[in-house]
Formats: sequence, C-alpha cells, structure tokens
Amino acid sequence: MDENTPSPAAVRRVACIGTGVIGGGWVAHFLARGFRVSAWDPAPDFEARLRRLVEAAWPALTELGLADGASRENLVVAETLEQAVAEAEFVQESAPEDLAVKRDLLARIDAATPPGVVVSSSTSGYGMTEMQVDCATPQRLVVGHPFNPPYLIPLVEIVGGERTERWAVEWAAEFFAATGKSVIVLDREVPGFTANRLQEAMWREALHMVANGEATVAQIDASITEGPGLRWPLLGPCLTFHLAGGEGGMAHMLDHFGPSLKSPWTRLEAPELTDELREAMVNGCEEAAGGASIAELVAARDRALIAVLRAIKDVRRDLL
Ligand SMILES: NC(=O)c1ccc[n+]([C@@H]2O[C@H](COP(=O)([O-])OP(=O)(O)OC[C@H]3O[C@@H](n4cnc5c(N)ncnc54)[C@H](O)[C@@H]3O)[C@@H](O)[C@H]2O)c1
Repeated sequence: MDENTPSPAAVRRVACIGTGVIGGGWVAHFLARGFRVSAWDPAPDFEARLRRLVEAAWPALTELGLADGASRENLVVAETLEQAVAEAEFVQESAPEDLAVKRDLLARIDAATPPGVVVSSSTSGYGMTEMQVDCATPQRLVVGHPFNPPYLIPLVEIVGGERTERWAVEWAAEFFAATGKSVIVLDREVPGFTANRLQEAMWREALHMVANGEATVAQIDASITEGPGLRWPLLGPCLTFHLAGGEGGMAHMLDHFGPSLKSPWTRLEAPELTDELREAMVNGCEEAAGGASIAELVAARDRALIAVLRAIKDVRRDLL
C-alpha cells in the first residue's frame, strides 16, 4: 500500500484486461456501477465483441438499477495493455486459463500499473502463488474469482498468494463489496477455491453417471432443478442438512446419516467423521444460522421456496 492506493470506496477508474465472456462481463458490471472502464484485449475484433456483450447485458443491469452516473459511454477502448492500466485505480485480468499466459500477462500488467494499485485475476483455479512468480511487485496481486455472468452473480472469491501482502486481500474485499459483490475471503490457496470445488464434485459425478448409463442428461438436470437446487438460493448445502436433522439440527443429522457416508452414494470418498469434524459442522451451522432457531429457519426456507417457485414459473414457460 502506498500513496497511489485509493480508499476502496473512492475508486472511479478501473481497467479490464482480457474481455471475453468473463472480462466483458466485468466491464458491464463496472460500467453499471458507475465506473470509468478502460479495456484491452489482443483479439483484433475485441471492441465489437465487447460492445455487443455490454449491449446485451445492459437491459438486465438497467432493470436491476444503475448507479448514479452509470453509462456505456464510460467505456474506453485502449490500444495497448500499458495504455489501459496507466491511470487505473484497480485492474481485473480475465485472460484464458493458461498458466504461462497468466504468468506473462500479470508480469506485464504489474510492470505497467501504478505501484500500490491492486491487480486481481479472474482465474478459475490457479493459485496466485504460481501466477505471480514473474511480477516485480507481487504484494498487490490477488485472485478475484467471479461467476458467470459477473454482472449478475454476486459471488467473488478472494485469495492472495504467498507473496501477496494482507492489505491487498483486505483492500480487494472492501473494493468488491463496495461495487455490490458478495465476497468470500479464503485464508488458504486451494485449487478451484470453494464454489468450483463443490460444483466440480457434482459435475464429475454427473459425467460418471452418464458414462455408466446410470442417468441421462435430462434426468440429472431435473434432479437438481426440481429438487435440491430450489433450496440453494436461500440455504447452502450445510444449513440445508442442518434442517434435515429436524429439531436436532446438524448434530442429529450427522448421528443419523453418518453411517451412510460409507455407502456408495457417490464416487467421492467421505472423510472420517471424527469428533472434531462433527463439532466443526455443528458449531459452523450454529454460527451460520446467526442465532435463528430451526423453526425460524424452516419458516424462512418455506417462504423462500414459494418465492423461488413463483419467480421461475414464467421464466420456465418461456424457456423450456
Ligand atoms: N467462463 C466462465 O464461466 C468463468 C468463470 C469464472 C472465471 N473464469 C476465468 O476467467 C478467465 C477468462 O475466461 P473466459 O471464459 O472469459 O474466456 P474467453 O475465452 O471467453 O475470453 C478470454 C479472452 O482473453 C483474450 N486473450 C487471449 N490472450 C490474451 C492475453 N495474452 N492477454 C489478455 N487477453 C488475452 C481473448 O482474446 C479473449 O477475449 C479465465 O481465467 C477463466 O478461468 C471463467
């Protein structure tokens, strides 16, 4: 952190490097939140592609509510990477998921970006430790992993590398939150971070089931969209199972279904259900519930389910 580091809430100028599906989505997000966005991508047709993506996203963003001063006119298309980042107060990199490309690009961004300005990578799975190796000032580089489309899905997972300083992680968390994002800060680098590890476990099982003729694509999708997927907008997998334990919550759930962890219900092996793990799950659920009783959570879940079922009824009719 130095005199170039603005306060996270005071940032007005951001740069987006790499403007495909994700980078273009970031551009749309930052424009809608009222930022001036300079963008660069090596593809010769990138400006036309980027403007198409922003045009397509703008009606949804307008419906959700634009920030004061938000305008598509605030997009500046740069001719070089160096030009794009020269005056940036924050940089988001969204180049292809290739370690050599990321290493080289982050070193170039690092060399051209004013010192003290935080640089974030959209990588889906690399650790910043392995990406920041060629940077001269690696202390300001973080992972800021979004979900597609970044202009609608709130989650950003933030994690630093071994050479990232703590202030940069905290700065990024505050900055993304100020732009309306829901932030999870991870204390450790884990390949795939959190959401992709969970998503990937289900995805690999789905591929196994199709490969073995155990379920069709349509059956797999319906099993989620007509089943547990409906609960997930309100409760994650842990609080969902907290409620599966009835009045006994997660403690009862684990004591009741613990032995099923040995059943071949998935190809992913379960960890040993030790006393420490049981306690971590029970305490974690209590904490996540924030003092809400099981009865209160059940009532909230039911209200949310009704809201979700009503909300998707018309969309489903249009789509399917
Ligand atoms: N697609 C997703 O759902 C998703 C979700 C979260 C994170 N991500 C991550 O976001 C990043 C971008 O993925 P994407 O899906 O937008 O890919 P994409 O292929 O849609 O876009 C990549 C863009 O990077 C550009 N590019 C190529 N070489 C470059 C370079 N050297 N410097 C700068 N830009 C370069 C390409 O021209 C293209 O416009 C990846 O790290 C990916 O893992 C993707």
